[in-house]
Amino acid sequence: MSISLNRRSLLTGAAASGLAAPAVAAADFGPVGRPSWAADGPQGAAARKGLAFGAAVPSNLLNRSPDFRTILARDCGLLLGNNEMKMAVVLPEPGRTDFAPADSVVRFARAHGQHLRGHALVWHEALPAWVAPRLAGADARQAEDLLRRWIDTVAGRYRGMIESWDVVNEILAGYGPVRRPDGLRETPWLAALGPGYVDLAFHLAREADPRAALAWNEDSLEHDFDWVEARRSRALKRLEGMRARGVPIRRFGIQAHLVGDHPFDATKFRRFLRELGQLGLGIEITELDIDDKAFPADIAARDRAVADVVRRILDVALDEPALLNVVTWGLFDGDTWLNDHPDHRRRDGLRQRPLPLDEGMRPKPFRDALIAAFRAAPDHSAARARLRNTT
Ligand code: XIL
Repeated sequence: MSISLNRRSLLTGAAASGLAAPAVAAADFGPVGRPSWAADGPQGAAARKGLAFGAAVPSNLLNRSPDFRTILARDCGLLLGNNEMKMAVVLPEPGRTDFAPADSVVRFARAHGQHLRGHALVWHEALPAWVAPRLAGADARQAEDLLRRWIDTVAGRYRGMIESWDVVNEILAGYGPVRRPDGLRETPWLAALGPGYVDLAFHLAREADPRAALAWNEDSLEHDFDWVEARRSRALKRLEGMRARGVPIRRFGIQAHLVGDHPFDATKFRRFLRELGQLGLGIEITELDIDDKAFPADIAARDRAVADVVRRILDVALDEPALLNVVTWGLFDGDTWLNDHPDHRRRDGLRQRPLPLDEGMRPKPFRDALIAAFRAAPDHSAARARLRNTT
């Protein structure tokens, strides 16, 4: 079942759900402070090229650890909560919202003059338990209503404060057989709304926060495998269609959860970025980390190998004018999801070292590689200015 997108019905729906004014004003999150970052850190180097560097942060650590706050303030020009704006956290039960975790990230970023990303409005994971059954029992109208109310709730609250919002996340089918000709992943949203749910989510997000650059964020697009190349083609094809249909998408997020020994073809990746840029989209590296399980146990050797992977992808990525932001999925090794994930755990039982700082929050070669890559990059200021207001 697919839904017909009719602008008038969208606007009527928005009015009916009381979207007119956000319940909270930006000023309630405190004044925007002076930029806190160090000139010789990754954000300092990025900013000189019109780029930004940042990290995903968990609010519990942010609220608990002064040392963590210090490294975030020093190294980052952009932050996002790693789970804080997901549906499972914000809407744990129908009608009950919890904004406290997200609010603390928003407050911290504003106080430190840092930009914010929003992550993620429509995803098949981090759904509260009540949502899948609710969607399964809904007709298209009711499902659209649920999606609208959810997007209004979270994107409406932070309206005007978010540089870019991940509107849809990981929507393409992954490693296994791709059953649908359009290559979409089968999710409760797709089942309830049909393939039009992707465009619909962008229109709804646009109503909720007209200034945010709306993004499609996607995984498994970086390495040199046939199935990955097929995903790159599918992403480009869908993006062309979205642009032709006037869907308000302005950014494309490449997650970049890289695996140390997986092949990387600079030419193919460069071509992909160029084609994204030619579609008029801004590009962000949104979740960079390096799974080091193929690398030796020795720490110096391992950290060097990880830094080499970082440099290899960034040298290609930062050559592309449309590339705007680089974001790591955590800032230090004590805060990585990779040790919890069965696909990523190291066989020797050692903990992963996938991020710019070590478990003691000391800089690693990864951080040096970031700084060196930003220093070597061309100036992106003109492209950023050009892409700022594109719809
Ligand atoms: C991860 C979080 O970091 C974990 O804490 C959580 O348990 C699972 O999700 N792709 C994404 C992110 O888009 O939202 C995921 O974050 C990592 C993979």
